[in-house]
Amino acid sequence: MNSSDKELRAFTLSALQSKEEFVRGVKYDFKQTKAVTEMLDTDLDKVFPVSLRTVFLGPPGAGKGTQAPLLSEYFKACHLSTGDILRAHVKQGTELGIQAKEIMDKGGLVSDEIMVNIIKNELEDNVACKNGFILDGFPRTVPQAQKLDEMLSARNTPLETALELEIDDSLLVSRITGRLIHPASGRSYHTEFNPPKVAMTDDVTGEPLIRRSDDNVEALTKRLATYHSQTAPIAAFYKSQYKWRGIDAAKKPDEVSVRIMESLPSDTVISALFRNKAEELKTLYHATK
Ligand code: AP5
Repeated sequence: MNSSDKELRAFTLSALQSKEEFVRGVKYDFKQTKAVTEMLDTDLDKVFPVSLRTVFLGPPGAGKGTQAPLLSEYFKACHLSTGDILRAHVKQGTELGIQAKEIMDKGGLVSDEIMVNIIKNELEDNVACKNGFILDGFPRTVPQAQKLDEMLSARNTPLETALELEIDDSLLVSRITGRLIHPASGRSYHTEFNPPKVAMTDDVTGEPLIRRSDDNVEALTKRLATYHSQTAPIAAFYKSQYKWRGIDAAKKPDEVSVRIMESLPSDTVISALFRNKAEELKTLYHATK
């Protein structure tokens, strides 16, 4: 980090302590704030480098798809949900989609080879992954976890944490059978725990919500059995690497989010906090001058 980067960090901290003074400075003392603007116009990703590299583990309905988009927004890292990617194939009617639908509706798993290639291509080509990634639904078997390690070692970007959302099976039936989805964005709601403002309608776009074809008690029972036999053993794999963090997912969504933040590497969290605050000041500056 060079000296102007250090200055920007120090400035962000002091400006945050007194937003009012910052706004007054922008309004009445342009000369002084010109230097500040120049600093704010530098590449914030360079000054506050963030590379979040994490995976979510947990049974169907644990809250992976609820928490992952929040992290993605905060850290500006890509959110790769293998379930969403497969459902997009189903919707487009691709060959993979036709095969996957049958497997998904029965609560089984699509082959490791197909899933590993999907993630490999996303990590290589998806520009949204330049500040890191949050994998949701992958890895789902120990061989997938081993392949992911190989892939990330080759890129020199090893996984930092594996967050396991821990919850008793008995709480999952109501979560899954009440879930509503906005297919285009992946946003999820719940008829009781997180209802949309207007029934069966997405809060942001006003488009209709749907229920997933595998969100029924019969398919859930099979998905849970598959989870316990094939996915749960991954926890031991990450525990042996000291990357595993357990999160109590039975708590309210906000409390789960706080616990997740506490489990991530602190330097990554602090850097993201500074970058987001610098962005905020930049917006404030342009709105005020
Ligand atoms: P996928 O889409 O990954 O499904 P899943 O793992 O079964 O997980 P869910 O999406 O059902 O649950 P979630 O943990 O995201 O819960 P959510 O946040 O929505 O995979 C589907 C299928 O694709 C698999 O079965 C498999 O066939 C195939 N597949 C995918 N990846 C694969 C891979 N790598 N290899 C092979 N096959 C693969 O929350 C659920 C509900 O609860 C929501 O309504 C939400 O609003 C509510 N909720 C969330 N948090 C809380 C809370 N704290 N309190 C109260 N309610 C809450």
